[in-house]
Parts: sequence; C-alpha cells; structure tokens
Amino acid sequence: MEICRTKTAIRAWRKSAGLVTLVPTMGFLHEGHMSLVRRAKAEGGTVAASIFVNPTQFGPSEDLSTYPRNEARDLDMLRAEGVDAVFVPDVAEVYDPKAQTIVETTELAKILIGKLRPGHFRGVATVVAKLFNIIRPDAAVFGEKDYQQLAIIRTMVRDLDMDVAIIGGPIMREADGLAMSSRNVRLTPEDRESAPVLARALEEAAAMAPTGVTASRLRSHVRATIEAEPRAQVQSVDIRDAATLDTISGPLTRPAVILLAVKFGQVFLIDNRVVTPK
Ligand code: PAJ
Repeated sequence: MEICRTKTAIRAWRKSAGLVTLVPTMGFLHEGHMSLVRRAKAEGGTVAASIFVNPTQFGPSEDLSTYPRNEARDLDMLRAEGVDAVFVPDVAEVYDPKAQTIVETTELAKILIGKLRPGHFRGVATVVAKLFNIIRPDAAVFGEKDYQQLAIIRTMVRDLDMDVAIIGGPIMREADGLAMSSRNVRLTPEDRESAPVLARALEEAAAMAPTGVTASRLRSHVRATIEAEPRAQVQSVDIRDAATLDTISGPLTRPAVILLAVKFGQVFLIDNRVVTPK
C-alpha cells in the first residue's frame, strides 16, 4: 500500500492507477468505513482512501481537538483490506492560508444538521471537491449514515459537472443497533448503554410507517421515544422526503427519511432510517 503524504505523491500514484475508487475518511476507522472500502473494491479497479481530519468542517466550539485519531491502526486496517493507496496529508498540505475559494450547496447546507452546525457542510463540500481534484477518482463511496452529507455531495457533483460517480453504502451498526461512529469511543459507559435508543426509535418508526400514520405523528412518536431516555439530549428529529430532503406533511405517500441528531454528554451522534408507506 502506497502511503502518500503530499499531493505530488498521490498524483504520481494516480497516473498509473487505472480506474480509481476513493473512500474519503477522517480516520479512527471502524467497520462502517471498512464496508465502504469493500464496496470500493467491488468496482474492480484500484482503491484509494484518504485520512484527513478536516478542520474547516468543525465549528469553533466543536470537537476538532478531541476528535479520536490512530493513524498507525488505520493504516494497518486499510492495508489488511487491500487498499492500494492512502492519502494522509497534514493541514498545511491541504489548505493554503491564502485560499479564498469555497464550495457550498447553498440550500442543502442551511437545513437540518447545517442549521445545528453552521458552516459544517461548506467545509465538507470544499474538502471533498479538493480531494476529487487532487486524486481525480472515477468513483467515490460515502456512507448513508451521513445522509445529508451524501445528498450534498451528489448535488455538488451534479451542479459542478464533476466527473465522479457517487456510490452510497448502507449504515453499519453494532450488535445492539447503535450506528458505528468514530465518536462512539467517547461515550461514557452509561451513555453507551443508552445510545441504542436511537436505533430502537427508528425501528419502531419503520414498523409504524405502513399504517397510514402522518409524518408529524411519526416524528412526535420518535421524539417521545428518545426523550424517554433521560441521558439523551435531542438536538433535532426530522422527517423529510427521502429523495429531496423537502419537508413533508400528512400521511406518507413516498419513502421518507427520519433524521436524528442527539447528544449524549458532549458527544454528538446522528442516525437515520428510510421508511416506506408500504
Ligand atoms: P467520517 O466521519 O470519517 O466518515 C467517512 C465515511 O464513512 C463517510 O462517508 C461516512 O458516511 C461513512 N460512515 C461513517 N459511519 C458509518 C457507518 N456506521 N456505516 C456506514 N458508513 C459510515 O464523513 C466524513 O468522515 C467527512 O465528512 C468526510 C466525507 C471524510 C469529509 O471530511
């Protein structure tokens, strides 16, 4: 596996790499990330991963400094999975202090998580656009765990005519349903025990969806289930059109996505599930 710390090195690797599928990550890898690597391998060409804790997607009071890191372990995991190259730049390699260009999906960046984390999706879209320009992959794989992020990347690629096929991968969960996340290691044992309430609430919602329930009833039910868990601090519970993320009202007529953002202590967790009326 080629370990590239500079743009020059990864571009040199890319020249002879054939069809490339990229898996962008912020490291501290888990089975969710590895499922995306396997999905990338299934494309049949070579696989590149990136590990970069992107400072521009963290707000001033967010967890950039405490974001978990373990580069040696990450590299071992990627090597074991047969990744061909990994791009592991430092911040100075990615961001010129004089840079003034940003990428923003103006509408999608403002809603849902974008409302809770102003500027977050501008940072995500900008760094993903840069990774695409640096590595020039034919395809890139992103997890449905970050549902709004995936929608934003698809929109960016379409709007800016980027020649990269975007592939989504399903959410990987722990045995008790908790969606895998690099942040889960920061949960206290008590919060870790409570956190599966998110998956449970989504499971219940999926079972209720075909009963003719309205979107607002479904949303209140999910919120009440989570709020019954005293350790959970609900940041947002939303139900949106699964394809467009538009608001919906009345009985479900199309697939809808339920999007959760919940804090346990200082740890910000998200989860989601697409539910269908029948
Ligand atoms: P990170 O949180 O490290 O996630 C990297 C990729 O793994 C994302 O596409 C994310 O959706 C996916 N992922 C995370 N947990 C998952 C799970 N339980 N099941 C399936 N996929 C999962 O998302 C980012 O990094 C950054 O915003 C990035 C896109 C790299 C830009 O900085």
